[in-house]
Amino acid sequence: MQHLVDVDSWTTDEIIKVLDDAASFKRQLPPKLLDNKLLITLFFEPSTRTRSSFEVAAKRLGASVVHLDPSRSSTKKGESLEDTFMNLCAMEPDGVIIRHSQNATARELASLNLTPVINAGTGNSAHPTQGLLDLFTIREYFNSNIEGKRVTIVGDIANSRVASSDIRLFTKMGLDITLVAPKEFMPETSLKNTQNLEEVLDETDILISLRAQLERHKKPIFDDYSEYAKHYCITQKMLQNRDIIVMHPGPVMRNIDISNEVLASPKSLVIEQVKNGVFVRMAVLKHLLLDSNGN
Ligand code: CP
Repeated sequence: MQHLVDVDSWTTDEIIKVLDDAASFKRQLPPKLLDNKLLITLFFEPSTRTRSSFEVAAKRLGASVVHLDPSRSSTKKGESLEDTFMNLCAMEPDGVIIRHSQNATARELASLNLTPVINAGTGNSAHPTQGLLDLFTIREYFNSNIEGKRVTIVGDIANSRVASSDIRLFTKMGLDITLVAPKEFMPETSLKNTQNLEEVLDETDILISLRAQLERHKKPIFDDYSEYAKHYCITQKMLQNRDIIVMHPGPVMRNIDISNEVLASPKSLVIEQVKNGVFVRMAVLKHLLLDSNGN
């Protein structure tokens, strides 16, 4: 039984196979490969993109999806997460897709080996399918020539699970990474890093913006995000005519993370990322539920 806790557990060959499958699904939707399969989604934190994208992906492949709303579940009566999970597994799903605020949750549930566990975002530690769809989007844009491409990640990197997975995945796949953030948002890192976004733009092919993860801040870090935006919001004036693509996992804080003008421009791949997310998640489900099971 294989899980997706984070991308570092997958080989380069597995990652490329999943991205190739996703590309093939984007060209032409496949037959209902997951007919008769059942997935349960369990989101302990809000989601627009990831939850609906997994559901669309599963349904496009013919699978059924049951969503358990934790705010109306027996966890509210004191049932532990592990007991909730084990009870759901007694219904014999073919996989459970989980989002949780605690970094270790997906890994701990996967270690029970009751059903494939797919991490849809845990704490600030991992968001593997976002990492994969980000890589897919970059690979598609550059016609698979990604080796050495220069990625600058800007924003609240310390609190971002997307940054965590992107950094591990991009490093594994040979991309060159620079981190840009005010010191409050910069993690401990051995990667190239700076507080000054303007100084790295000439050495950037891909700019990934991240929102401030306010829900993970123990106390407010900045009183005034318009002041932050003066230095870190990606604007047309900042990009000028440089050949840089702009990405963001969403939700975007408009005119704080990225200006309206850039979001509406061809430089922005933000909506394309969401579109690609469905094909990547279809490929992930195929990989975990069919290929890894020897089917
Ligand atoms: N990118 C992402 O995880 O978005 P959601 O929180 O809306 O799922």
